Amino acid sequence: MTQIIKTENLYFTYGPGTPFEFEALRDINMSIDTGELVGIIGPTGSGKSTLIQHFNGLLSPTSGKVLIDGRDINRKNRGKNRKNKGADKDIPVCFDVGLVFQYPEYQLFEETVCEDISFGPKNMELSPEEIDGRVREAMSWMSLDFDKFKDRSPFSLSGGEMRRVALAGVLAMRPKVLVLDEPTAGLDPKGCNELRELILRFHGESDITLVMVTHEMGEIARMVDHLIVINKGEVAADGKPGDIFKRQDWIRKLGLGVPPYMKLMSRLRKRGIDIREDVLDVDDAVSVIKEKLLSKRESDI
Ligand SMILES: Nc1ncnc2c1ncn2[C@@H]1O[C@H](COP(=O)(O)OP(=O)(O)OP(=O)(O)O)[C@@H](O)[C@H]1O
Ligand SMILES: [Mg+2]
Repeated sequence: MTQIIKTENLYFTYGPGTPFEFEALRDINMSIDTGELVGIIGPTGSGKSTLIQHFNGLLSPTSGKVLIDGRDINRKNRGKNRKNKGADKDIPVCFDVGLVFQYPEYQLFEETVCEDISFGPKNMELSPEEIDGRVREAMSWMSLDFDKFKDRSPFSLSGGEMRRVALAGVLAMRPKVLVLDEPTAGLDPKGCNELRELILRFHGESDITLVMVTHEMGEIARMVDHLIVINKGEVAADGKPGDIFKRQDWIRKLGLGVPPYMKLMSRLRKRGIDIREDVLDVDDAVSVIKEKLLSKRESDI
């Protein structure tokens, strides 16, 4: 398995040499494999958004390295031989990584949905046919009917639709890695579920690597196999959600929630029932409880 994202001793300081100087990231060493679905969690202000902005070169490390597909994206002149003539060769723009900010709908600005989604591919100087194909593909991934939505103003859409348009705009650039900062924040439960399902389907059916920052502990725990916890600008844990959330007291101390099924299992354990705690979804919870009930019945007979 190749590492699509890797950071080496990454440090980042906002406003160095000013009264507002603040070291937001300290010695971050982490890696993400190609095709993985990874969650990044951590208390508010811990550095999650600062970290992911390093993945596409929007921020450059104060020291240390960010490697995308093995290449140091902040090395000067890396754009020298690239086709995108518009990009200054000294500016580290990384089209391989598509970054979707929190509340991306605030960044919609074109008159129609189609023009908005075309914006990225146009900047990549693709042919009109290629752009059209990509826009249609991206809209279909985000479950936006092309004919129904293409000529509408982005500002006439619902919150959930706007967000899907914003995501489609990034997908149309066909990044190798999609990084989403709080993709479901502020949506109602139905909108959250719909978008989550679309994101999961997209990850399942494409070969994209997906990185998601979130405050939704229950959801992320059951969605991903790899979780990175950031606290006070450092990697506080990196591993499987089951192993990380098992440390419930520590998770609570960080101010993060424990996924609901793990909470249930630990309550059962506190009542003296010897039951597994690293349960992350309803199916697993049902099978663990069922197993327990059956074994109790057998021992009662
Ligand atoms: N432009 C900036 N100038 C100075 N400090 C900043 C700037 N942007 C962020 N910070 C500080 O850096 C730290 C990390 O911020 P960041 O936005 O990365 O946190 P976060 O983990 O994404 O938080 P949240 O969960 O609230 O989105 C915070 O203490 C924040 O105040
Ligand atoms: Mg943030």
